[in-house]
Amino acid sequence: MSLDALARREAAHFLPVVNRMPIAIERGLGSRVFDVDGREYVDLTAGWGVCCIGHCHPELVDAIRDQAGRLMQTTNLFYTLPQLDVADQLAQLTPAGVTRSFLVSSGAEAVEGALKMAHRATGRRKFVSTNQSFHGRTLGALAVIGQPKHRDAYRDLLAEPVVVPFGDLSAARAAIDGETAAFIVEPVQGEGGVNVAPSGYLAGVRGLCHEHGALFILDEIQTGIGRTGRMLALEHDAVEPDILTLGKGLGGGFPVAAFLCTETVAGTVSLGDHGGTYAGNPLAAAAVRAVLEVVTREKLAERAADVGERLHARLARFAAEHPEKAEAARGRGLLQGLVLADTERAAGLPLRALESGMLVNVTAGNVMRLFPALNIPEDELFESVERLLELI
Ligand SMILES: Cc1ncc(COP(=O)(O)O)c(C=O)c1O
Repeated sequence: MSLDALARREAAHFLPVVNRMPIAIERGLGSRVFDVDGREYVDLTAGWGVCCIGHCHPELVDAIRDQAGRLMQTTNLFYTLPQLDVADQLAQLTPAGVTRSFLVSSGAEAVEGALKMAHRATGRRKFVSTNQSFHGRTLGALAVIGQPKHRDAYRDLLAEPVVVPFGDLSAARAAIDGETAAFIVEPVQGEGGVNVAPSGYLAGVRGLCHEHGALFILDEIQTGIGRTGRMLALEHDAVEPDILTLGKGLGGGFPVAAFLCTETVAGTVSLGDHGGTYAGNPLAAAAVRAVLEVVTREKLAERAADVGERLHARLARFAAEHPEKAEAARGRGLLQGLVLADTERAAGLPLRALESGMLVNVTAGNVMRLFPALNIPEDELFESVERLLELI
């Protein structure tokens, strides 16, 4: 199929805000996708960290198909079983104090819910976030992200957060005070360049929040559901948030996310404080239920830890052997980054990878980010990585 023809179709009617790669993807299976001409690619992005159990996992497809034939949508005026099942499952996998959850349709919406809860629980409006953070593109979520490139065009509409350097506990101490509603942070900044929170940082920030009556919000939209080698990345630091957000891998490709909170936070909201036509939609909940069953049964978090450790070692060895090409490797589980030395060449890497049959992402200017399906076959992953290192 001619890409020029596709580009012409898009140019006529699409909002020109996305820069497309020269490929039209038609289907996916496991950790591979196929373009409209039948060419095959190894997907090292898993649909942006979403397809944690691979593309079109049969159990997920069956669950969605089955639920679609039963009940796709009703309203939150009524109980539905998939939604109740998911609330139980989420309570099992989160820290003991995080007991309540609410399903929404996207990560940004989950962050919005988290910010609303923090305001409701504290009566305050000051939010502290971190440099290079990413929390979504709706106005509330955009207001707390620490990346000017996303905020600048909408600055006039946004509340100003206090943004502190990620990983710097003294800066957090200086910023959190008696007016702070919450500190929001990712355990590993994904879009911001695969920056892993230093050991003790998250617990330290949580302690500072509580000293001042503020809440600690952990955004695990990218790191949750096994991605970093634990079901939730917070387990690495044994830290318990007041509010937690999940998304991406939660639905394995179905657009769904969640915000969760403690009893104390939940006790401050009233009926009608939040809602949404599609909140807890049965089809979305059936997808989450299936994903969580597969991830748990197939021990995909443990697998991500094991495979991720070897992936990290390979990237770190490359950086050590070729300092002129790569400055460092960093990451956790199957969220790994290789910091490339040459930003200009880094920008061209996704296209060169595509031509070699791989989907790969470069984020934060020069960080090759690998976040494949948690069940990607090892030979597929490591052969692709060798080809990528060759290209670099
Ligand atoms: C940590 C984090 N929070 C929030 C979001 C926003 O999620 P969504 O794109 O589903 O709105 C993302 C998306 O990349 C993310 O990585």
